[in-house]
Amino acid sequence: EEDRQKQMYKRYDELILTLPAYTQNSIMLPESIKDSPSEEKLRQYRQYKGFWFWPDMMLPGFMAAKDHFIPRPSDILICTPLKVGTTWLKALAFATLNRNDQPCKQSLLLSHNPHDCVPNLEVILYGRKRLPDLTVVPSPRLLSTHVPYQLFPTSWLSSGCKFVFLCRNPKDTFISYWHYLNKLIEDVNHKQSLGDMFDAFLKGVHLNGPLWDHVLGFWNASLVNPDKVLFLKYEELKSDTAVNLKKLAEFMGCPFTEEEERDGVLEKILDMCSFESLRNLEVNKTGTMPLKLSHDIGNEVFFRKGEVGDWVNFLTPEMAQRLDQAMEQKFEGSGLSF
Ligand code: A3P
Repeated sequence: EEDRQKQMYKRYDELILTLPAYTQNSIMLPESIKDSPSEEKLRQYRQYKGFWFWPDMMLPGFMAAKDHFIPRPSDILICTPLKVGTTWLKALAFATLNRNDQPCKQSLLLSHNPHDCVPNLEVILYGRKRLPDLTVVPSPRLLSTHVPYQLFPTSWLSSGCKFVFLCRNPKDTFISYWHYLNKLIEDVNHKQSLGDMFDAFLKGVHLNGPLWDHVLGFWNASLVNPDKVLFLKYEELKSDTAVNLKKLAEFMGCPFTEEEERDGVLEKILDMCSFESLRNLEVNKTGTMPLKLSHDIGNEVFFRKGEVGDWVNFLTPEMAQRLDQAMEQKFEGSGLSF
């Protein structure tokens, strides 16, 4: 069985190296640990069915998850582009869903990074070159993915499971992404310049991009199927966290009762999951995340500033305008804006 799985992942790897690579502007992905000699090739974005991926970190895992993950109707999948507040949403969803077994004082979130509590399908669960046994995980399973809706196999879509999607102002998403990727890249000579990365971003080249297609996929799905796809925005989550948390709880099938609201259960969850609280936990200050990169990545990388509008400190007005215009054009007629 082990051999069979190894063969399967080998076939995925071979297929991935035939996909189009992005080789312009010295745009590179971080160094990951691998035994293949073709390192350079694995540090280039690869395009799979219209979206850009990290060839050895995300794609084999997604291919395996697509073929082998069987969602249950009770599953909840946290779906996000990178750097839109996934960590926060995972914490809120996990704390809310498990509030009876794990009241805040005993929450796993106090000793574990939210990404350990809500594992990612393509990077962690299926990204380790062997298939996980998810049948042992009790329902409701809370899992996550960065993969766009358009790539979900029919088996996921018809499973009856629920998808919670979060996105963020594209300018802030980009700035957060630029900081993040440069933290993951160890070699100082390969740190990515803002300009090069911005040009690539405008072309849609970044992990699981183009961002506009990623966002529109979930937006349209949420309009057609609001009971199965919840569409959230970081800025709204920031400006009214309580209202959005109630919405999330209802969507997940575990609405807060009047009694819980009276007892301050909601506030306790909001407090525990706030930027300051999470950031100041020992596990998030000194713990590391289980990515197979050439160097350890601290959990603190997920807690940078947590503000709306930080792009203004990095993008020129001209860059901001270019990105705004590109987004407006892509979102035209969809009813969606930022
Ligand atoms: P900044 O880089 O703008 O600070 P992700 O979790 O998808 O990787 O997104 C990371 C972004 O969410 C970072 O944005 C990070 O600071 C912010 N973030 C993390 N935890 C947060 C929280 N509890 N509340 C608000 N923002 C948070």
